[in-house]
Amino acid sequence: EKGPYPHYMLKEIDEQPSVIRNVVSKYQDRNGEIAIDSNIREAMKGSDRIYIIGCGTSFHAGLVGKQLLEKMADVPVEVHVASEFLYNRPILSGKPLFIMISQSGETADSRGVLVEIKKLGYRALTITNVAGSTLSREADYTLLTHAGPEIAVASTKAYTAQLAVLTILAYDCAKAKGMDIGFDPVGELSLAANAMEIMINRKEKMEEIVWSYLSATRNCFFIGRSVDYFVCLEGALKLKEISYIQAEGFAGGELKHGTIALIEEGTPVVALLTQASIAGNIRSNVQEVMARGASVCMISMEGLEESSDRLVIPKVHEYLAPLVSVIPLQLIAYYAALFRGCDVDKPRNLAKSVTVE
Ligand code: F6R
Repeated sequence: EKGPYPHYMLKEIDEQPSVIRNVVSKYQDRNGEIAIDSNIREAMKGSDRIYIIGCGTSFHAGLVGKQLLEKMADVPVEVHVASEFLYNRPILSGKPLFIMISQSGETADSRGVLVEIKKLGYRALTITNVAGSTLSREADYTLLTHAGPEIAVASTKAYTAQLAVLTILAYDCAKAKGMDIGFDPVGELSLAANAMEIMINRKEKMEEIVWSYLSATRNCFFIGRSVDYFVCLEGALKLKEISYIQAEGFAGGELKHGTIALIEEGTPVVALLTQASIAGNIRSNVQEVMARGASVCMISMEGLEESSDRLVIPKVHEYLAPLVSVIPLQLIAYYAALFRGCDVDKPRNLAKSVTVE
């Protein structure tokens, strides 16, 4: 039930820190160590390449998951949009393992891929929020996201729970390979949950941002590099689906290859910066769009901020930055939809689970 909340979406945004803490506790063994099902560990170890499949927000979680798996565990990963996979099937590696990411576990596009790859004799792991869902039953293995029912059409807590499970999977995989990665998943995820809470408690600031950048606009751009780019894709999807503002996420480096032509006086650009390695580059992209009149809302992580930045998010491990940086973007979408009088929980033309291809 919504309780005191005006919308499920706001309730689900607020639940995220406790969802992350819950995910951690569900994947801790008796000694408090992170551990996943040994069959899944073996399947991961026995594969030479992971193929992540998802749609919409779950696809965006997959993009972040690829980075986590590659950086932490040195496993090659490809991420594919489910609906495209069947036409453009990649040349598969010798021992592929498929990871289906789906909040509902019922998405027809994702199921289409699962059915096809099972016919080919490959194994699949489903990461889902719904135990007993079709994608869970039809896959060989399941990891649950334990986020509790997600009612709002726009996915929020399921996405961050997917990121937490992908972190745990990547960590477990690195450990199983005997790699010493110097990353404490329990400690770092709990710090990230605290940082998420801090962002959630800054709703007034987010309302202000929406007033100043989005009250009258028809469009909005989100720019970032590396993993920030993937979070920008998610922020743009949230904004367009519930506020109907045309929004696009772009890789900072791609702007000059075309998109920058769309920037005019007053165009809102949300820029994200959480990774030290790309700080200089994204700052110069911000200069480029500002020189063309863009009104830039810079969101940076503590330690990388400059005094003119609009919002500073608390410092967390760079692997976990998306868990925290997505919160202001979810809230921007929420308040933009609210101010425009949109039906936040049930946006037009959309269904919670998409069971047609
Ligand atoms: C966006 C959203 C959709 C879903 C997509 C996949 O907020 O909710 O993009 O993420 O339809 O749904 P699942 O994860 O249930 O397969």
